[in-house]
Amino acid sequence: MERANQQQYLDGLQFVRWVRRDRQDHPIEPDAGLDLSSTEKELFELAAAVDHCRACPLGETRRHAVFGAGSASADWLFVGEAPGAEEDRRGLPFVGRAGQLLNAMISALGLERDQTYIANVLKCRPPDNRDPLGEEVRSCEKHLHRQIELLQPRLIIALGRFAAQSLLKSSLPIGKLRGRRHLYEPFGIPLVATYHPAYLLRSPLEKRKAWSDLRLAKTVLS
Ligand code: URA
Repeated sequence: MERANQQQYLDGLQFVRWVRRDRQDHPIEPDAGLDLSSTEKELFELAAAVDHCRACPLGETRRHAVFGAGSASADWLFVGEAPGAEEDRRGLPFVGRAGQLLNAMISALGLERDQTYIANVLKCRPPDNRDPLGEEVRSCEKHLHRQIELLQPRLIIALGRFAAQSLLKSSLPIGKLRGRRHLYEPFGIPLVATYHPAYLLRSPLEKRKAWSDLRLAKTVLS
């Protein structure tokens, strides 16, 4: 992984406290003397693989791959669509305007953002924020699948149509997928789909439904 990307990834995963900052001449890596869980080590290796991935052309046009961020032992996994401009610049998910609304949704659940884990279906930004193409989703979703396998969250919140359709292998519109409990079949993890925060910024009247989805999610988890 490129050095700058490693630091971003480690910051996102709150690995900072484990990283040796005294060895500026060496690539940053988790300090071998410290006690990283095997999940954290494997997430780091997966992030490095994603950073090198050129399985689709987005690997050439993006600035940073955006692997994901949060606690490796989180109960809640939020999955969005793809990085936008700000995420591409910083290498972290949901750090733009939609991210501010996602933070508010997380607070409404009584959680801190760093108690959750946040990832996207696509790890690289589609140019000009266009919709992901089918072949991009197909070539990237193996990374998310492995990420979920490592994280083993207790609940997945799919944010918007792309995340919901990709995780549920469905072509139904988000309006039909939201509002009920599903399973992420490969690992039998409960999943609730809701509207994407960027859509809610454009259509604030739909926030009521999103809040009802979050209440449902809390019930599913308890
Ligand atoms: N929208 C997404 O779907 N993901 C991000 O990380 C940011 C905006």
